Amino acid sequence: MRSAPLTLLLSAFLCASGCSDGGDGGGETGGAGSTSGPGSTTSGPGSTTSGPGSTTSGPGDTTSTTVGPTSGSGGAGGDMAGSGGMGGGGGSGGSGGADARRIPAASASSLKEAGSKANPPILIGAAISGSGLNDANYKRVAAAEHDYVTAENEMKWDALEPNPGSFNYGAADNIVNWATSNGMKVKGHTLVWHNQLPGWVNSLSGSTAVEQAIRRHIENVMGHFKSKIKHWDVVNEAVITNSDTGVGNPRMRPSVFFNTMGERFLDFAFQVAREQDPEAKLYYNDYSIDALNDKADFVYNMVKGMVERGVPIDGVGFQMHIGPPNNEAGGPDVAANLKRFSDLGLEVLISEMDINRCGGVVTAEEQLTYYHDIVAACFALPKCVAITFWGINDGRSWLNSWSGALCNGQSSQSLLFNDQYQKKETYNKVLDALLGR
Ligand code: XIL
Repeated sequence: MRSAPLTLLLSAFLCASGCSDGGDGGGETGGAGSTSGPGSTTSGPGSTTSGPGSTTSGPGDTTSTTVGPTSGSGGAGGDMAGSGGMGGGGGSGGSGGADARRIPAASASSLKEAGSKANPPILIGAAISGSGLNDANYKRVAAAEHDYVTAENEMKWDALEPNPGSFNYGAADNIVNWATSNGMKVKGHTLVWHNQLPGWVNSLSGSTAVEQAIRRHIENVMGHFKSKIKHWDVVNEAVITNSDTGVGNPRMRPSVFFNTMGERFLDFAFQVAREQDPEAKLYYNDYSIDALNDKADFVYNMVKGMVERGVPIDGVGFQMHIGPPNNEAGGPDVAANLKRFSDLGLEVLISEMDINRCGGVVTAEEQLTYYHDIVAACFALPKCVAITFWGINDGRSWLNSWSGALCNGQSSQSLLFNDQYQKKETYNKVLDALLGR
């Protein structure tokens, strides 16, 4: 009678000291077996049961379970199994542990250290530009603080396939090679998007031509980077509202993809991507879906439908461009919103975070609160696997010259480092949140 629970307890105890690879966000193994142990849920990032069509059974890089601390932080075991109830049992197959929590690192001297020592870990990313990599300070800060890279422009369709069937990988390869040689992972951004799209795609007519173009592009690009990139933004910004803040008449965005193929272009793109790499993490990414609003509701239903249809989607990226021209999203709303997506069995990512101060829409104090509380909202969800900032320092932020951002060439003051690459107070808020403070 007692032997079963005892065995469970024993294996849980043993696992606490050895079953988790702990990994610093690195293990490519993990796999389906890693759901044992206290506090573990079936929803550990990496166990990816999302969507019946998904063939990814946990290739994830963030495969660790919620078992045991990786960093020896004091008092760890204590608060791991979420809210009492199950007696911390969890264990295989149980539905307990839905409230499993992330355990913070005891201390860290960089953002990436805080992220990688958390259990489960969080990748800390930055948008990296080719021109930035010519600047020694930029490179130094980028590599010291981050372990995840998104090319800011170099992997968009116009950069990679400017002419039909003719691919241009030089600038993207530079970034990807720099990242991998610094031990950083890369997210491919972005395969299908209405912007930064070459003219020839926009002038295709008929669904067959568009389907063929999507297939050729995805197969070529994912094929080229297959050994180095296992995370992809497959479709970006397919939804629009009357206002860029995510409010008013949410609907599918008119584009050459939607106009010719209808909404099924989304499923198609994910299916082609999955065929190309059964192990890759495949994401939908959008802006102004960060908090609860019309656009987030629409995207939630859209993605839910994809999961129900078995479309191989692994997660959703919330761009988190806060302030002009996008939404202003406070922590509690973001937390509630991210949670409902995570409850679909999907990973969630903060994928392009910056908080724009131009126009005085967001005050200095609000900016600090938002940085802390939004990162904390990710930290609180075990399935929030990455936080990427859209740039390294204020001086190079895209917002400075983006029409609608109200900066008109002035600094957006939107990031974690100033023009001299010194840490700002925003950095400290992010680090605090990553340490569970
Ligand atoms: C931006 C880049 O930062 C700019 O340099 C470029 O001029 C326009 O695109 N959503 C996205 C990103 O998905 O690719 C965008 O990046 C910012 C908004």
